[in-house]
Parts: sequence; structure tokens; C-alpha cells
Amino acid sequence: MGVDKGTAKDQAARAGAELVEDGMIVGLGSGSTSALMVDCLGDRVRSLGLKITAVATSEATARQARELGIPLVELDQVQNLDISLDGADEIDGRFAMIKGLGGALLREKIVAAASRLRVTLITAAKQVEKLGAACPLPVEVSRFGLAHTERRLQGLGAVTKIRRSAEALVITDGGNCIIDCKFAEIADPAGLDQTIQGLPGVLETGLFVGLCDVLIIGEADGVRQIEADRAGRRSTD
Ligand code: A5P
Repeated sequence: MGVDKGTAKDQAARAGAELVEDGMIVGLGSGSTSALMVDCLGDRVRSLGLKITAVATSEATARQARELGIPLVELDQVQNLDISLDGADEIDGRFAMIKGLGGALLREKIVAAASRLRVTLITAAKQVEKLGAACPLPVEVSRFGLAHTERRLQGLGAVTKIRRSAEALVITDGGNCIIDCKFAEIADPAGLDQTIQGLPGVLETGLFVGLCDVLIIGEADGVRQIEADRAGRRSTD
């Protein structure tokens, strides 16, 4: 890639890639920060002979990993992953996140849930007081009954927008659609996640609660690393 080399985002990506050790099974996230991290991992595989096996959270990440010579397996070929590294769109003080502006939320959540250590790579701009104030919440839904599911989401108070590129529906790697949902505020991320998941037609939400163990915040000249305790609170800062 190369475009963002030397930026705060690149610092986070590099620090994340450094956490990967020989022999690990690694979940590779999606989005621009993850792409930089995959670049760094590719360098370590090529120049240091790092031996890893990876699971990709999107077709785009899988293509990049293949080009870099990072060996890939399907998630179902492994029991657990040692570590997964991914970006986020927003993260609050309790480590709850909004993910999925890149459209890979379903696979990202399945991979994060299968990982022993979940590492989130961000810059300071992604840290927020309350989730959803600026960022819409992406919800992956079945193509069948799209308008019905959209109305149900509106019934929960969301201003909705079915994701399109030009005039065509955006279709995820899983063959589904995405509805971006703007809520006035998300006071209870876990509760809202459960409520939305209860709607017919919903496959996954971009609310990731309890799925970040380590947060790496890239800065111009280095990183800050913060660990979450099991309750999702910050243990160090
Ligand atoms: C992809 O579906 C997303 O969850 C990304 O992880 C998230 O959008 C962060 O992307 P950037 O690293 O490009 O900001």
C-alpha cells in the first residue's frame, strides 16, 4: 500500500503486527488500518521468515494476504485463533465499538468471537464519549424483505439508509445488504445490539461489545496501548 506510511494509523498498524508471534493463528481484519497491518505482517513473513496461519475477515483482505504470501485457512479449519487484529469506526470508554463502515462486520464479529486476544487498532479520532453520535451503525440484513427490515429498524428510532454504491445495492461478501442506522444516541450498546439482533431479517450488527482486549492508539511518533479488563473497562491508561 504505502500511502499512509509514517502516519498515526501506520504506527498503530505496525505495533499491532509486532504482537504476532511465530506459530500463531491470526485473524486479519478489514479496512484501511488493517490493510496497513497486513502489509507489515507480510514484510515479517517475507523478510524474517515469520511462520503464521491467517484467517481473513473479507475477500479484499484475503486477496492482499495471498499477494503477500501469508498462508490462509478457512475459519472452520481451526478451533480458535490466537489473536485477531482489526480497526474500528468508533470506540467508547468501555471498549464498546461500532464497526462495519467497510462492510465486513459479519465476518469480523465471527472472527473476533473465535479469538483468544482481540486487538483493536485506531487513531485518537476514533475515540468517542458515546457511540453513534457521529457514525451510523451498520446492520447487515437479508436481501429478502429488505424494506420490511428497514421499517423495523426505523421503528426502533433509527434514521436509515440502505447502503448503495452509485445506484446499485452494496452486497457484502456474504451476499447480504447493509442498512446504515443513525440513532440519536446509543446509551446501551449491548442492549441495542440484542434488540436489533431480535428483528427478523437482521444477520448482524456493527455493535461490538466485549470484543476488544487490547486497544492500540496510533500517534504521530508512537502508540499508546491500553488493556481492557474482562468487564470491558480500561485497566490502564
Ligand atoms: C470494516 O468492515 C470495518 O469494521 C473496519 O474495521 C472499520 O471500518 C475501520 O476501518 P478503517 O481502518 O479504514 O478506518
